[in-house]
Amino acid sequence: MLIRNAYIEKSTVPEDIRITDGKFAEIGKGLQPALGEEVIDCGGKLVLPPLIESHMHLDTCLTAGEPRWNKSGTLFEGIEIWSERKKSLTKADVRERVNRAVRMQAANGIQYVRTHVDITDPSLVALEAMCELREELKDFVEIQIVAFPQEGILSYPNGKELMENAVKAGADAVGAIPHYEFTREYAVESLHFAVKLAEKYGKLIDVHCDEIDDPASRGLEVLACLAYETGMKEMVSASHTCALGSYDNSYAFKLFRLLRLSGINFVCNPHINIMLQGRLDAYPRRRGLTRVKELLENGNNVSFGYDVIYDPWYLLGTGNMLDVVHIGLHVCQMGGYDDIADSYKLVTFNAAKALHLGDAYGIKPGNPANLILFDAKDFYEALNERAVVLKSWKNGKLIASSTPAKKETHF
Ligand code: FE2
Repeated sequence: MLIRNAYIEKSTVPEDIRITDGKFAEIGKGLQPALGEEVIDCGGKLVLPPLIESHMHLDTCLTAGEPRWNKSGTLFEGIEIWSERKKSLTKADVRERVNRAVRMQAANGIQYVRTHVDITDPSLVALEAMCELREELKDFVEIQIVAFPQEGILSYPNGKELMENAVKAGADAVGAIPHYEFTREYAVESLHFAVKLAEKYGKLIDVHCDEIDDPASRGLEVLACLAYETGMKEMVSASHTCALGSYDNSYAFKLFRLLRLSGINFVCNPHINIMLQGRLDAYPRRRGLTRVKELLENGNNVSFGYDVIYDPWYLLGTGNMLDVVHIGLHVCQMGGYDDIADSYKLVTFNAAKALHLGDAYGIKPGNPANLILFDAKDFYEALNERAVVLKSWKNGKLIASSTPAKKETHF
């Protein structure tokens, strides 16, 4: 297949891409079609590597209003409602919702999803369903599963055992939730446990770390120190890290040295945290997000995630990463031209680094032919116009397509 006349990322000249046997074979200007080769003319539009959802809770997706609506819109009411909803979880229920959510994501150009799955459930039913789906959907969307202890590791009965069982059952990464543990001591121990477990089984780590406005929540320094001292470094991700937005500058400045040394990844979730944080503040009210610009300037890798789609914590959501980038740029005050033009990296290359996808990600000869075509000439336009993904190819096969809506005025 020959894809012609496409702008790859930020290139200033259109190029052609040849795909053979599911891989990128040749990229250059003026490639000529071979006899009988399928040709697709992109008309000077943007192609990118596939979008990546680096932080999602697929097991809770599409449950808003069940068994009741979150009326206050707060995190605490969300937790209460989810613990009620969790009682009725079945494998069929999880499978049906995840299948729908993944298709919403795929239609918006996503081909990789890191999902956290709640394992504070002795039946591990959601984890089991997710492991099946990871296998069934792998030709369309690659799913990475984090064993996520929603109710704590030390603070939930048999939490450590459940974590290890989840890893044995097939989780790709180990999670933790230090700010939710009963005590600071439990928080610290949970991180030591998570890192040891990941080392034992050769897994990645992704911690819900300090998702709270409390400036005394300091799981991040423990996680970063462990990542540095064990050498796990870039295999470790710290998600949310909202408290970093509330730390005093004198402490934050000291912490940034350790963060740089640790080489850990950060995943910021702008939708959910601008909605849920700062709720106990009067005015002025904190934004509650981590320090994205400063972390990037510090040399740390940062990606953006949606976190949830339409669940007890967040009653909205489409799964479209353009939404995430759009709101993230606003909330993190990244409004300069370069910030906007480069922002696709937050949901492509930076996310690929967090997911540890390696060199196989990206449009270059020899790599799997995974790419998307936007209905826009560049990412600036794609973001501003919420352009649709016209086509999404995985291993050279078309897995999703969209037709742009036609808008007309009559004056
Ligand atoms: Fe999360």
